[in-house]
Amino acid sequence: MNVKTYSTKEFAKIVGISKNHLLKLELEGKVPAAKRVQRGKIEHRFYTVEDIVVYREILGMPPIIDKRRTQLFLNFKGGTGKSTISASYAYAVAELGIETLAIDLDAQQHMTKCLGFEAKRDTNSIYEVLIDNKDINEVIAHTKMPTLDIIPANIKLSVIENRLPNKEMKEFLLTSALNKIKLKDYKIIVIDSLPNITLLNKNAILCATDLLIPVLPDFFSFDGLGLLFEELARMESAFSLYTEFRGGLLDNIYVFINQYRSNEVMSRQSRGALEKNYADYLCETMIAYNTKIAQSTAAGMPIFQYNRSCTGAKHIKALVDEILKISQNRKKKVKKIQK
Ligand SMILES: Nc1ncnc2c1ncn2[C@@H]1O[C@H](COP(=O)(O)OP(=O)(O)OP(=O)(O)O)[C@@H](O)[C@H]1O
Ligand SMILES: [Mg+2]
Repeated sequence: MNVKTYSTKEFAKIVGISKNHLLKLELEGKVPAAKRVQRGKIEHRFYTVEDIVVYREILGMPPIIDKRRTQLFLNFKGGTGKSTISASYAYAVAELGIETLAIDLDAQQHMTKCLGFEAKRDTNSIYEVLIDNKDINEVIAHTKMPTLDIIPANIKLSVIENRLPNKEMKEFLLTSALNKIKLKDYKIIVIDSLPNITLLNKNAILCATDLLIPVLPDFFSFDGLGLLFEELARMESAFSLYTEFRGGLLDNIYVFINQYRSNEVMSRQSRGALEKNYADYLCETMIAYNTKIAQSTAAGMPIFQYNRSCTGAKHIKALVDEILKISQNRKKKVKKIQK
């Protein structure tokens, strides 16, 4: 993974100050000077992802995300972009200097692969934590991006449903495991799941604060979405003791359209129908159908490494911006799940 570096303008924007203010602080020696690299005769200034955290701390600014959010990508319909988008989403969050942990729950390892991580036969996954009681801190692997760690998937996850029912508190094993993370104070945990309602997915829903639901702009997606909301309502009442204690099953639900084609009537009609039926949850950002996204999946790279200037990358970054801003500033709190 080539780790992103930032120009002075980009860096100032992420830190949350003006470029002039940044340069002034540097001149006055109040913050470390930019790093420099010689290219030909010109010396270029640059900053790294780690600098974002350091500079904000020096300037007494609060972390971009103050309280941990656990964000689960889920849809009962297959192939809607959970793995592809969740991997690039996690990468984009990490690029903001936010300590991020990606967790892949799918034995197919798509999210793991999309992040360019090679899981070997003996690579530990969440299976070893939930079933073999391994310390979660020991299964967290580091990526080359300093602010992005991963719990990769392995093939054993394909049999986890046979083992989970024998465990006590079988629906809360993931919640309990995440509470034991000591390695880093991850502010965002991004989870990729399978398109079904298994015990593992129930574990994921119960530990999540936010649900991110990618839908395709076709009418088949509505069945999957309806089913998912019904299941959430069922879980909310089945686990009412727990959900009342935490003030609801989830804090936020975000539905977003993936593979949007603006020139197709079906895409526009689907957007209209979602606006009508799921207005409370629908994100403004839509991710266009973009072959670069499919190519980046095949190449095993987040889109921001494969081609950061393509439309797909811009849309995924816009989704991150919209969701992180909504989480902080706008109430999209889900009191009672609407069926
Ligand atoms: N916006 C997009 N533009 C083009 N191709 C896309 C886009 N989003 C996803 N894809 C492609 O669609 C395919 C399915 O995506 P992905 O595997 O992420 O879906 P999924 O929801 O994780 O599937 P599953 O339910 O099997 O886990 C992949 O080949 C991916 O590259
Ligand atoms: Mg997937």
